[in-house]
Amino acid sequence: MPTLVHTPRELRAACDAFRARGERVGLVPTMGALHEGHMSLVAAARNAGAQRVAVSIFVNPLQFAPTEDLAKYPRTLPEDLARCDAHRVDVVYVPSALDMYPPGFQTHVEVEQVTRVLEGATRPAHFRGVTTVVAKLFNAAGPCVAAFGQKDYQQWRTIERMVRDLDMPVNVLGCAIAREPDGLAMSSRNRYLNPDERARAVAIYAGISAANEAFGRGERAVGTLTTLASRPIAAAFDSIDYVAIADAADLTDRQVEAGEQAVMLVAARIGKTRLIDNARLGERLVIG
Ligand code: PAJ
Repeated sequence: MPTLVHTPRELRAACDAFRARGERVGLVPTMGALHEGHMSLVAAARNAGAQRVAVSIFVNPLQFAPTEDLAKYPRTLPEDLARCDAHRVDVVYVPSALDMYPPGFQTHVEVEQVTRVLEGATRPAHFRGVTTVVAKLFNAAGPCVAAFGQKDYQQWRTIERMVRDLDMPVNVLGCAIAREPDGLAMSSRNRYLNPDERARAVAIYAGISAANEAFGRGERAVGTLTTLASRPIAAAFDSIDYVAIADAADLTDRQVEAGEQAVMLVAARIGKTRLIDNARLGERLVIG
């Protein structure tokens, strides 16, 4: 079983002990309800040279708006620990909200531009919560490498920006999206879907695939590509927050022409559940 730690001090001690033996530490920040997408990050951290991997599990209140799903976010610690054990994770860090944010807490990390659009426009304080907690996790663990999923594309780009801007000595990995056999991006929030919603949810993948295929045939008009993607999503989902094409590096909006450095990003709601997905245009979408 992995070593279970609960406070920043305990996490630091566990990671320091590895480093004292000359072992590099990798960190995989999560909110739990772990699935194979999360575990692919553990493998990626190892591939990038981490001999030891720590997984943090913390449903971070700072990144949820009052109207969002903080209270009902799935919490499955025994299953999560078993999954970490099966993947030979060395340390699992499960702080309480008080360990993370003791009384008097008042310091935040904010990345300015890349967080304003897309998810940031719909969820104003979200990325400030993410960067604050990830900075704290980096400080507590001191990892050489930290793995993030491209599933949360804007989050990955935001963390890259933070690390560069604040000279944090950590190699940030952006790992490929793990998908279910029908193409749905794996997500802890997929657990909210009833069987009918789960069947309809594949429309996001269908929409992104349709746009990506058109891009492969030479289509570059942003309007055409987003219309192609929106059609199946609008038919299956209750509402669309955005279907957008943005610069793959800094996420600035692409208004007219999608070039080679473009990413298509989607957020849509089905029942009470909000799902996101994306794909780099021109890259094959891999299932499995
Ligand atoms: P969470 O949603 O639990 O995701 C943890 C990490 O797993 C993120 O880097 C996310 O992009 C990655 N991930 C999720 N689904 C994936 C998939 N299908 N394929 C590949 N990677 C996937 O993202 C968060 O938690 C939080 O915002 C966090 C970074 C932990 C800060 O609280």
